Amino acid sequence: MKGKKFFWMLVSILLISSFALAACGGEATPTETAGGETLAVGIVLPTKDEPRWIQDENRFKEALQNEGYSVEILFSQGDSAKEKQNVETLISKGIKVLIICPHDSTAAAASAEAARAAGVKVISYDRLITDTAAVDYYVTFDSVSVGKAQGQYLVDHATGTGNPLYLYAGAASDNNAFLFFEGAWSVLQPKIVDGTFVIKNSSEAVALQDKPTLTREEMGRIIGQITTNWDFNVAKNLAESNLTAATAADKGDVFILAPNDGTARAIADTFAADTDVTSYVITGQDAEIASVQYIIDGKQSMTVLKDVRVLVADAIKAAVIFLEGGTPEATTTYNNGVIDVPAKPSAVVSVDKTNLISAIIDSGYYTADQFTGLENLK
Ligand code: BGC
Repeated sequence: MKGKKFFWMLVSILLISSFALAACGGEATPTETAGGETLAVGIVLPTKDEPRWIQDENRFKEALQNEGYSVEILFSQGDSAKEKQNVETLISKGIKVLIICPHDSTAAAASAEAARAAGVKVISYDRLITDTAAVDYYVTFDSVSVGKAQGQYLVDHATGTGNPLYLYAGAASDNNAFLFFEGAWSVLQPKIVDGTFVIKNSSEAVALQDKPTLTREEMGRIIGQITTNWDFNVAKNLAESNLTAATAADKGDVFILAPNDGTARAIADTFAADTDVTSYVITGQDAEIASVQYIIDGKQSMTVLKDVRVLVADAIKAAVIFLEGGTPEATTTYNNGVIDVPAKPSAVVSVDKTNLISAIIDSGYYTADQFTGLENLK
């Protein structure tokens, strides 16, 4: 009898301790660094100079308040060397999962590989890290559909033929710039062929306008001419030089593919200042506060809302699953030149003055007191 009791005691101790280990998630326990700091997840974002990434930082902070894991967020300030340094700092603090939005898709491969070598799971956030096998998961919006929404908006607001079309793109170092352009081209190209639009600012795009789909190299040639480098000043200067080169007949009622909100505001202001421009329709993306105000004020036509709350929640969910030794859900893959990276892209919403209140305010994305003139939209 005594022997039997001892046996069951031993069994329960073993069971309890294995449950306790499982609850800690094994790998999930943050490691202690020499400085005494413990860190489970590290987040690296590209720059503080664009409101888009401040949005992500704030949404991460809001969401992380509810999680038990310690997390640090670092910014790379548009510099791949600084980005690598950030990753190394986080590795030395013992992170188990790295959530990283690369400044430069290819240059970030070295950071991803350093993390992989240290046993850290790598989640590519919003932008894909290319040319390496060291990416475990990709958290993203459907970027091709962002471009399609932009192109569709221009198509839906054009009548007749011969409408002047000005094309602008993101940075060639950002894989997303190609996906946005691919989506926009798929919608715009048939409308260029049928004469609705006439491209005014890219000889490379004109040379390729009969091709419904473009290779990456072909897109690269066009992007080389129309890149804003995601920089407001570059966007402004390029728009100015395009308008200087164009004749009054190339202006009038114009259509502008602008890749995101920051560049859209810069380009819109430049077109608005040209007296030969009678009206313009211009796209954007990110639903930055300043651009939502521009839409209310009639200075920007549309934006694409990429609900950062969803992206942040997906990233945290994937990180926690990795910490617990699991594999996050994937619905598709993105080829990064070396491997097919598993991903579950999120949907986006096209927003203009007709649905701004429901999409931006009623959804709780921003509050009405952050804007003026909302009553004019009702
Ligand atoms: C992001 C956009 C952003 C752009 C510039 C892209 O990779 O998807 O949301 O506007 O980078 O930072």
